[in-house]
Amino acid sequence: MSTVRDANAGDIVDFNESTALDLILATVKDTPNPRNRALFEALLRHLIGFVLETRPTPQEWRTGLEFLKRTGQISTEMRDEFGLLDALLGTEMLVDIINRQRPENATPNSVLGPFFNPNAPRKPYLADITGGVPGERVVLYGEVKSLDGKPIAGADVDIWQTDEDGRYDAQMPGPFEINLRGKFTTDAQGRYACVTVRAHHYDVPTDGTGGEMLRAMGRKAGRPAHIHMMIEAPGYDTVITSIFPAGDPLIGSDAGFGVRKRLIAAYANATAADAERFSMKLPFLTMKFDIALVPAGVAAGR
Ligand SMILES: [Fe+2]
Repeated sequence: MSTVRDANAGDIVDFNESTALDLILATVKDTPNPRNRALFEALLRHLIGFVLETRPTPQEWRTGLEFLKRTGQISTEMRDEFGLLDALLGTEMLVDIINRQRPENATPNSVLGPFFNPNAPRKPYLADITGGVPGERVVLYGEVKSLDGKPIAGADVDIWQTDEDGRYDAQMPGPFEINLRGKFTTDAQGRYACVTVRAHHYDVPTDGTGGEMLRAMGRKAGRPAHIHMMIEAPGYDTVITSIFPAGDPLIGSDAGFGVRKRLIAAYANATAADAERFSMKLPFLTMKFDIALVPAGVAAGR
């Protein structure tokens, strides 16, 4: 004798286009954490809404699932293909903007990107980070300050960028060697400076699903030239940002949505006074970029 009570056929709600959303939402109604419940509900509403609106064929749906599968398969410790999709779809910047509503005069965040290396070597003021690669020499310098203009001493300024061909150290031929990056600590006046090369615009990797998506959309893969920075100081909100040199041909069409007006800075031809100040031989370029930090906790968006 069966111990399972026969279901009354009248109690069964058929899963169909009209009932799908309610039936699926019912599966998360007991989610213990209220925030998780809100996230699940919104995700499912949009997902079911997407299917009902676009009415994909089984082949189209499978194409989407296979795309996600391949995104996972190509990802490694060194390659974050989901992170690339996050940047290319604008969601990386949007989540950051929602959570980091800094005052107008504070330095905003930009895209972290996949080439940050937490093991960048610590370097003294005005150290050369070029490792001898070719390219126009640039003295990149500035001050880290609080919003009211007071210098912040002892801030860590992590800098990383491409060579003149748009390649990071991890993309250069030959055995891997850390290059074009360094961690600088500001002095008593909040100053940092390094000798680097003119960065170049580059294409994000297009040999994975990020590239497939761009081609399917008829989009370009280029990011304008930029110099990445992470600035950390005790008691202040960490800033992950980039400097975008003015005049780059791609500055208005960044595939990663990282450009913000406050982050654009110009190269200048060094003067004799610059040569003396930085103990460099002319000709070279200078770029000044000051950073304004907000106290920790002030920038929360929610
Ligand atoms: Fe980058």
